[in-house]
This record gives sequence, structure tokens and C-alpha cells, in this order.
Amino acid sequence: MTTSFDNAAQVLTPPEPGLRYLRSDRANELALEPGGITVEHGRIAALEPTTDANIHVDAGGCALLPGFVDCHTHLPFAGWRAGEYEMKVTGVPYEEISRAGGGIRSSARALRETADETVLAQAQELADEMLRSGTTTFECKSGYGLSTAGELRALQLATELQGIVSQNTTRTALLAHAVPDGYTTTTWMDEVEKMLPEALEHVSALDIFVESIAFGLDDLDRMGALAESNGVNLRAHVEQFTTMRSVPVALKHNARSLDHLSTIHPDDIGPLAQSECAAVLLPGAEFMGAESTAPARELIDAGAIMVLATDANPGTSPIFSMPLTVGLGVRRYGLSTREALLAITLNAAYVLDLQNDLGSIELDKRADLVLLDCPAEQVAYRLGRNPVAATFVGGEAAYVRPDAAWRIMER
Ligand code: NIG
Ligand code: FE
Repeated sequence: MTTSFDNAAQVLTPPEPGLRYLRSDRANELALEPGGITVEHGRIAALEPTTDANIHVDAGGCALLPGFVDCHTHLPFAGWRAGEYEMKVTGVPYEEISRAGGGIRSSARALRETADETVLAQAQELADEMLRSGTTTFECKSGYGLSTAGELRALQLATELQGIVSQNTTRTALLAHAVPDGYTTTTWMDEVEKMLPEALEHVSALDIFVESIAFGLDDLDRMGALAESNGVNLRAHVEQFTTMRSVPVALKHNARSLDHLSTIHPDDIGPLAQSECAAVLLPGAEFMGAESTAPARELIDAGAIMVLATDANPGTSPIFSMPLTVGLGVRRYGLSTREALLAITLNAAYVLDLQNDLGSIELDKRADLVLLDCPAEQVAYRLGRNPVAATFVGGEAAYVRPDAAWRIMER
């Protein structure tokens, strides 16, 4: 089957093929030019349209972009924590929220008490919502298990989720998220080491939350060594609330990404930016938690591989929309349109190690595409509006907004 995308106002393409990532200080080299493409058998077959296609997509006035890659989510989880959010915004201190049963432990309790089918149904519904806002690939994390059985169950559910969603997904074992009752960080890391062989059957990366109230630098060092010796990527939640100086430790283990970075120490910006470790910024979590703002401009100017993601989770960021994340990131960090688009496509695919297969519009890559009903500059500008007219996964229209259905014509 051949599909031709005709007459787009803008098509986003990289400056050269085969890039694993593009450092964000080169984002202005991305082309955002009028044109079209041809898709054959789910792959991009030509960087121009064809008259000889079974399906024609009228992209007039539209931006045609690579599908959005959300490289940091906490799906699947159970239930929500809206009451906790109300407490937070009305000024109730964190300790009190925690005493009232809030935080990661509350989502762990909910997960434990919820049947597999219910957890999967909620995650499937959220994946649908993400598809409608242009996400064609997303990462799942464990982390609400807080016991060996609970973590392995969460990973099993994440694996099952792949079978019931339209998107391509990856899995990360966030095995050190909060310290479970009855453990110290060290004795819990001993447990992590024991459950690792089983966990590794599901995942391509390990993750850890390094924070004054969670795990420390020694634990990060240990998780890094485990990731390296098992041939999976190290990722870490770092410098979210407290400046812990996690960056040098994580770089020693060739971390694939460091996420949050709202309170990164100024001396750590240069080494991170010069490395091949991506800086994943989470403007939704920063906004919802009134957190510090990550020094995105400094990171970009120093050459970082900058990425944006939702951090979708029931606590710090109940946000599942990449267009909204772009809007928040652009305003908060002062990003150009190209910097923001690069951060949710090629560079985000690199975090998930999928850059050879997706993340940019280039020959032979998967035809994961988003058609916006407007030029790309409007995504951030019309904050809160969903500009997605249609989402294509592997060349197939996985979502078409009813008022855009006329654009897709079978011949
Ligand atoms: O990425 N920072 C730690 N973990 C999550 C929040 C988890 C939660 O509050 O449920 C995050 O922000
Ligand atoms: Fe997170």
C-alpha cells in the first residue's frame, strides 16, 4: 500500500540522514519547508509525494512532523491523586500530605489493590488520549510496585500494555523509586539486585530516583554498575528538588539520560552538555509542582542533547499531551520552535534507543507521523489547544479527528 502526503505547508526533516541525535544548539539546521512524502509498506519511501498512491492525504495548510516520542512516563498506574493536588496548591506542607497517605506510596497502595484488567484499561484509555495528541511512541516505567512482586507485576503489565495500544512502547525498570517500608536504601538495593534477572526480561533501561527523600549517590553508582554489566541503559530522576550532584556519578556510568535537572549544579551543566547523555526536561512536572526551572538555555548553548517529555504520572505531572508539554517548555525555557520539535522527536527517540527506526522523517524510517492542522509555530503559541488533525503509526491512520477526515482520500 502506498500513501502520498501532498502539499504540506511544512515538513520537518533533519539536516542529514542517519543522525543518532542532534545537539540542540544545531536545531536551527532542521528544515521546516513546504512539501510532501511517500509512504510504502509502513516506511518512508520518498521525500516527495507521488501521484501513484492508493491513499492521498491532503496536507494543505498543515505541518507534517515525525510522531511525537514521549520518553518519560510512569504508565501503567492505578487511579489518581487529585485530592493531593488540591492540598499542594492550597499550601499544605509535603510532610502533611505524606502523613495523610499521599505521594508515591499512595499510588503503590492503589496499584496493589487494583485488578490487572482495571490497571490495563486505565492505561489503554490514557494511551488513546496520547494518540489523539500525536504521541506515536512512549516509554512505560515501573516504580509503584515497592516490593519485588509488585515491581515485577508492574513490568509484566507494561509488557501486556504493548499488546493493546496503537503505539510502539518501551519499558524501563524504575526499581529504586521510594524506599519500601522495612528497608534502608542499601538493603532495598540488595533486593533490586536479586530481582534484576527477572526484571531484565521486560526492559531496555534501569532508572532510579536520586533525592534527599529517596536514594543517594552510592545507590546511583550501584544502579549504574548494574545497568552497565547487564547491557541496558541507565536513566535517572535527578536534581528535581535538591542539588545532589548526581551528574558526575551518572556520567561515569554512561547514563543515556538524566531527567528533571531543575536544580542541577552550574558546574555540572558543561560536562552533561558535552556528553552523549540526554538532558530530559519535564516542564509539566515543574509547572504543576511549582518547582525550580531547569537551566535549559545554558544546557542548549553548551551543546546538550535536550529532550522534553510529559513525566505523565498521577502525582507530580498528570499531563499526557506533548503539545501542552511543548507549550509549557517553550514559555518556561525560552525555546525556539525547532528546538522544541527536536526535543520531542529525534532526540527523544535517542533516549529510548529507537533513533535508527523512528524519530525523524527520513528514508526507510517507520512512517510514524503527526499531521497538525496549523503551522508548527502555533503549537506552543495556542497553549492548551490540541492541534493534531491525524496521527499515523507505521503508515496507518491510527487517529483522525472527525473534522479532518476529508483530508484522507482513497483512490
Ligand atoms: O518523575 N520524582 C519522582 N518520581 C515521579 C513522581 C512520582 C509520583 O509522585 O507519583 C516524577 O516526578
Ligand atoms: Fe518521572
